[in-house]
Amino acid sequence: MCGIVGYIGEGEKKEFLLSGLKELEYRGYDSAGIAVLKDGHITSYRTLGKLENLVHKTEAFSSDGFGLGIGHTRWATHGKPTEANAHPHRGEFSYVIHNGIIENYKEIKENLQKEGVKFLSQTDSEVIVHLFEKFIKEELSAQDAFKSTIEMLQGAYAILLVTKDEPETIFFAKNAVPLILGQNAKEEKFMSSSDSPLIGYATEVVYLEDGEYGWVKKDEISLFMNEKPVIPTFATLGRDKIYAQKDGFRFFMEKEIYEQSSVVSETLMGRISDEGVELDELKDIDFSDIDNIKICACGTSYHAGLTAAYLFERLSKIRCQVEIASEFRYKEPLLDKKTLFLVISQSGETADTLEALKMAKKANMKTLAICNVDNSSIVRLADATLLTRAGIEKGVASTKAFATQVITLWLLSLYMGKKTIPAKKMQSEIKALLHTPSVLHVEDNTHEKIRRLSKRYLHGHGFFFIGRDIFFPLALEGALKLKEISYLHAEGYPSGEMKHGPIALADSELFTVALMPQTMLYEKTKSNVEELSARDATILAISPKEFDLADDFIKTTEQSHPMSEFFEMMIITQILALEIAVRLGNDVDMPRNLAKSVTVE
Ligand code: AGP
Repeated sequence: MCGIVGYIGEGEKKEFLLSGLKELEYRGYDSAGIAVLKDGHITSYRTLGKLENLVHKTEAFSSDGFGLGIGHTRWATHGKPTEANAHPHRGEFSYVIHNGIIENYKEIKENLQKEGVKFLSQTDSEVIVHLFEKFIKEELSAQDAFKSTIEMLQGAYAILLVTKDEPETIFFAKNAVPLILGQNAKEEKFMSSSDSPLIGYATEVVYLEDGEYGWVKKDEISLFMNEKPVIPTFATLGRDKIYAQKDGFRFFMEKEIYEQSSVVSETLMGRISDEGVELDELKDIDFSDIDNIKICACGTSYHAGLTAAYLFERLSKIRCQVEIASEFRYKEPLLDKKTLFLVISQSGETADTLEALKMAKKANMKTLAICNVDNSSIVRLADATLLTRAGIEKGVASTKAFATQVITLWLLSLYMGKKTIPAKKMQSEIKALLHTPSVLHVEDNTHEKIRRLSKRYLHGHGFFFIGRDIFFPLALEGALKLKEISYLHAEGYPSGEMKHGPIALADSELFTVALMPQTMLYEKTKSNVEELSARDATILAISPKEFDLADDFIKTTEQSHPMSEFFEMMIITQILALEIAVRLGNDVDMPRNLAKSVTVE
């Protein structure tokens, strides 16, 4: 996710902007930039890579005395990480920074280009400043031009815009992406994506609501919603920066679990139309000769791949195999050009996955990456990439990266099946896809229930996580989450495998987390769980249907699609691992022995 800061006042604008962007580094980025409007002149700098590059580039620039400043760190969603794609984006006399995704940017861009507007970047964000200037040229006031601009935009946005047309005003708008306004007694005004850049500067803040927009001068804030004025409600700003970076959660992992609803919305943005799934990134790839998909990944990404295999065979009707990259590398695999080689990696730097990709490239296979970090080694090597848009994932135990990988793979399975999937089926899949963000919303009472029951699972001789079909890879992932942060032993199993050996471990000290979805093989799974319960295994059942043999039961929502049940149960297994680890006093974000990116084999 991108980071945004803004300032109005007499202070040194560059210093505030750069220190604010530094505070937002944890959100992840690949480029950065600032713009300062002072004495009727706008100065702007943009750099690729780390903030140090921007600090270096602006070394000789100073900006004290009254003026406006905006700053941005970019996490690429549309357009490669390049200086031209970095924000701020400029028009003839205005500059804009934007966090989020403008879903209808293509049609806006095409219309503006027909009117002769020249675009300098590949981004969706650039349309905002050209649209604004178009309205200004049509004799609208800057305020009305900004309002008309916002009315045209669809999607998620946190926007700051400065213009020579109004040299004492910063225009802002907020929808589905955080944006905060701040102020202090010195008549300084501040804007930011989160609290931390404002700590030490602002004393009170307004957390903007979706749909709110307006403009700020040094001595006034004009706030609107649906064209009606809104009185801003100020709150006192907290003082703890790290607490602020975690947005008030105890751990980055916890924050990232709660972020899954919003980041999955961003993953879906611009990729679903009335006709179905649109993946612009793949428009130059010819899949017509592909009759097989081979997926290669590690760890959690491997579990996402296993989930996808069910979707590719069931929806796209394409054979699919999934391999652990460290095994694939040395097995002398049979590779052919009619196989699409698909690598999945959050970091894009995992050594085994990268080496597997090199083997596929050497065999002249078509290669596709599902990745969260643009410009990473894997992204640079693959023929094409679908970015998962999860934003930076600080917790070593992957959560939102997994959720966005699975949703991206689900999109891909529909995209690759669009010629064969019946229209009615496609519509029901699209409906379920769009339902996912609300499924991923974490209910307080569910979290509290899991926190309470977690005290019973701090000992024992191990855990089974069991499930069938797509709930088998989810069981594997739930077991991995628990292992990673609680250090307790856990195994994921297809629930049909119990009687082939594992059930020998069943006793009251063996904890079984049973994924019992109503929409997928419920009766089969139920009988497997009953076998375990009959041997006194302790059962934690997760299901929309009451199951009276469970020692603990977490009731989920009745859903109409298995993937909706998948994501709801995913949240529960993530929080279960978290709360057990908390009770054991472990470092949830930085578990022992683990690294966020395994760049060695
Ligand atoms: C996930 O919780 C782990 N941190 C680990 O298994 C991870 O998924 C694996 O190392 C692969 O990493 P990647 O997705 O960055 O390639």
